[in-house]
Amino acid sequence: MNIIKKILILYVSLCTISLVIAVPAKRDIRKRAEINTNFFQPLTPQPATVQPTVREYDFRVYKAQLSPDGVPRTVYTVNGQFPGPIIQANVGDQIIINITNQLGEPTSIHSHGIVQKGTNWYDGVPGITQCPIPNGGNFIYNYTVDVPGTYWYHSHYIAQYVDGVHGPLIVQDPADPHLSLYDYEYVVTFQEWYHNTTEQLLLIKMGANYTGLSPIPASVVISGYGQYNCSAAQGLSCNSSVTPPTYVVQSGKRYRFRIINTSADNHFHFSIDNHTLLLIEADGINVKPVMVQKLPISIAQRYSVIVNASQPVGNYFIRASATTNCLLLNNATIDYDRRNIINWNATGILHYEGANNSIPTSKEWPDTGAVTCDDVPDANLVPFVANTPPQNVSQDFTLNLTFGPADPNNPGGLGIFFVNNHSFNPNFTSPSIMQLSSGVSAQSLPADQNVYTYDNATGGVQLTLINSNGGTHPFHLHGHSFYIVGRGPNGTSPDPASYNLVNPPYRDTATVSSRGWMTIRYYADNPGIWLLHCHIEWHVEMGMVIQLVERYSDFSKLTIPSSVNNLCQSSSSSTSSTTS
Ligand code: C2O
Ligand code: CU
Repeated sequence: MNIIKKILILYVSLCTISLVIAVPAKRDIRKRAEINTNFFQPLTPQPATVQPTVREYDFRVYKAQLSPDGVPRTVYTVNGQFPGPIIQANVGDQIIINITNQLGEPTSIHSHGIVQKGTNWYDGVPGITQCPIPNGGNFIYNYTVDVPGTYWYHSHYIAQYVDGVHGPLIVQDPADPHLSLYDYEYVVTFQEWYHNTTEQLLLIKMGANYTGLSPIPASVVISGYGQYNCSAAQGLSCNSSVTPPTYVVQSGKRYRFRIINTSADNHFHFSIDNHTLLLIEADGINVKPVMVQKLPISIAQRYSVIVNASQPVGNYFIRASATTNCLLLNNATIDYDRRNIINWNATGILHYEGANNSIPTSKEWPDTGAVTCDDVPDANLVPFVANTPPQNVSQDFTLNLTFGPADPNNPGGLGIFFVNNHSFNPNFTSPSIMQLSSGVSAQSLPADQNVYTYDNATGGVQLTLINSNGGTHPFHLHGHSFYIVGRGPNGTSPDPASYNLVNPPYRDTATVSSRGWMTIRYYADNPGIWLLHCHIEWHVEMGMVIQLVERYSDFSKLTIPSSVNNLCQSSSSSTSSTTS
């Protein structure tokens, strides 16, 4: 390089540095964010700022023809992308998501794991906290992120997130105690993938005489890339050489993988051949680092693991394997014949810089015990900073989860789920937030609204979920993370004497075992109306949902933004209430 060029580069970089120094970080500086995510490049954290920053995202949701697994279908995209762009912020920042709905149907956006303190109306749940955003409409979500970690945003309108309306939401912490453990980070999502829209699947699945179980998918996609088994394509156009999802690493560097299971129905095991995973975060909570080979991950959960690129330069499989031995099927199940054709074990490639481009020949880590659809064991989820759950409870609810006929006169017909004998149905045109603010009392909402209320700010709330059916159910609570104070498998029952009240796991999504139970606690520190539901999307449609009205007397003192009220004016004519 000649001397003039060198001087020029020095000059330019000095200017850039002084620019960076000169710009004061202020909350009123609005950063219009990068919205074209490449999932196969390391994520660049937002620069640390002295004061919180407003991060603004413009999202247009619309349908596009894409072929994530080689077979074209209508995908519900965010800005034309699947998965949607990554939202990024630093802890303390304010996030603005400006939604333009061009889907041809209503939508909404929920920020999964964000507790929305003081902004319950931006929780994005049609029927609870808002009316849906009508087709052609606009809506702005606006909230502050107080807890760093790995989250995701997704449509909460019927099963739309499964069709593609979702993306990662990463809240970085410039003071993360684990920062010194890694050099770069990647975000990885995976889910099963269907060739039909959920609207088409639900039409069959929720039909009065459907006796099957959750639909069989067509493939599994990792960060939007998968491979349908084209030999089974039968006349479908099918590309049999979809680019495998490939994550490039430099030998000797350490990578934080932020892993998000965006499935409708499938529990997964995630692993990377020849590489162990150092688990450091679960649902936004730093945990004491623990080494694992295979990471079980339920629907809607997130984990961060550190992968050390310490193996010989080469190519290694990254595996997202659906945990099929807990799937419940019968021969009336939608696409039942596909169960042996599809590849339940999706692979990507961990590619070392300098390696050739050959397909890996690496071997999967062996299973060390029974392969279940349960969570990472509680002993491996110890919060990094010790945390005290409520030692006393002032509100104690038992929730019995049962499966039974939708129509008592047709016991062999459609089966749905009940919580304490009621199956939930959302009211899209009169969401709870609007009903309560107009003076309707929570207690007088219809039985299918599954309302539980508590107004006491002191003590803790305790929920005990008792699962009397064979499925495992990953439960998510809105508005809170919760302490898992106890849980047990089939054959056990809650034993308060055994509850762990010293630094138990603390997260926002946790799994109740098949015919097992789980007891969670949290502080009633967030007035609002919060959903608790199984995150298996089909089970949401089947009613496994309740709403918790928390400290309404405090919530009612807050002013609901007029944009939220206006949504109900515009949508009352264009939406009808079906199952959600
Ligand atoms: Cu991931 Cu009710 O949400
Ligand atoms: Cu469930």
